[in-house]
Amino acid sequence: MFKTIKIKGGMGDSAVMVGESLINLGKYIPVERTVIITDKNVWDHHGKDFPPCRVIKIEPGEKAKTLDTVRNIYERLLEFEAGRSSFIAGIGGGVICDIAGFAASTFLRGIRFGFVSSTLLSQVDASVGGKNGVNLGGYKNIVGVFSQPEFVICDLNLLSTLSQRELLNGFAEIIKHAAIYDSTLFRFLEENYEKALALERNTIEKLVYDSVKIKAAVVSRDEKEKGERRKLNFGHTFGHAFEKVKGILHGEAVSAGMVAACKISVNKGLLKDEELERIKRLIKLYGLPVELSYDRAKAFDAIKKDKKRDDASLHFVLLSGIGSAVVKEIPISELEPQ
Ligand SMILES: NC(=O)c1ccc[n+]([C@@H]2O[C@H](COP(=O)([O-])OP(=O)(O)OC[C@H]3O[C@@H](n4cnc5c(N)ncnc54)[C@H](O)[C@@H]3O)[C@@H](O)[C@H]2O)c1
Ligand SMILES: [Zn+2]
Repeated sequence: MFKTIKIKGGMGDSAVMVGESLINLGKYIPVERTVIITDKNVWDHHGKDFPPCRVIKIEPGEKAKTLDTVRNIYERLLEFEAGRSSFIAGIGGGVICDIAGFAASTFLRGIRFGFVSSTLLSQVDASVGGKNGVNLGGYKNIVGVFSQPEFVICDLNLLSTLSQRELLNGFAEIIKHAAIYDSTLFRFLEENYEKALALERNTIEKLVYDSVKIKAAVVSRDEKEKGERRKLNFGHTFGHAFEKVKGILHGEAVSAGMVAACKISVNKGLLKDEELERIKRLIKLYGLPVELSYDRAKAFDAIKKDKKRDDASLHFVLLSGIGSAVVKEIPISELEPQ
């Protein structure tokens, strides 16, 4: 049994199926007209369970998220004589979902697509929300479109082949969702961290489901990030900067970024010291960093280059309690390291 969450998008609706399996993918696609896009790691671990479709395999990792890769995909699609009735299934983590979604949304001005999400991070974040795209010239996700996949299968069994570090990376986004929207989920994360880290079936299913539900609700209200969706960027202003200057994983950087944003929230009198301590404790329970040593000047420079910047100020997400976030326009200079 699996649970479905519906997402309403301007360009169509999407169904996220938490607990559905890769082996049932064939039920949701026109198998003969489907091209699968995946990466080599996912293929090595799970290729045996793919339906009998044509497969485009790309190199794993963020460095493949380029227009060159997309161009290669278009060329392969032409070779396969893909047409308007073709279907693209992305099977992989956030990188594959972003690339496959972008290629499908632009090839022939858009053909049908869906995902099987294979990392915890992509299940709770990347595959939900209809944003997809690639990096260019050192800027992340700078070229892309909003377009919803028809479905996302979050197969929890796939998580067992992930490295521990990649797994923890995904927990950072679950902690983020709890911190900004759901104090009950926050408590659940505190009380069940051992089961969560061991991927105990009911626990991980609840965490993925609750997380998708939170993100889906926000995205349904604000698909194009005009207001409320900005709250999902909690921890990400500093997080993106740490990711860039330290070369660490996204979730690791966001964890330390959430703590930095909480400290500013405490300084502004929005968040209590005890709440900051509770957040730090939870992040540590999940083996994620609360503090990083970094080059402050370089990090500040990276923040200034953040593409979400409006002039001299930016929309910064603060916490006004565990489970509640506020977005404030604050001058970039306020974020400058002392
Ligand atoms: N579109 C969005 O809204 C959104 C949101 C968050 C993140 N993202 C994007 O997602 C990307 C990060 O996603 P990610 O962390 O999933 O990275 P990823 O896709 O690179 O996957 C991480 C690593 O795990 C491997 N892998 C994937 N599934 C596996 C499995 N089941 N078993 C073993 N190995 C497996 C991959 O080959 C890769 O080496 C970034 O590019 C980020 O920009 C997008
Ligand atoms: Zn993130």
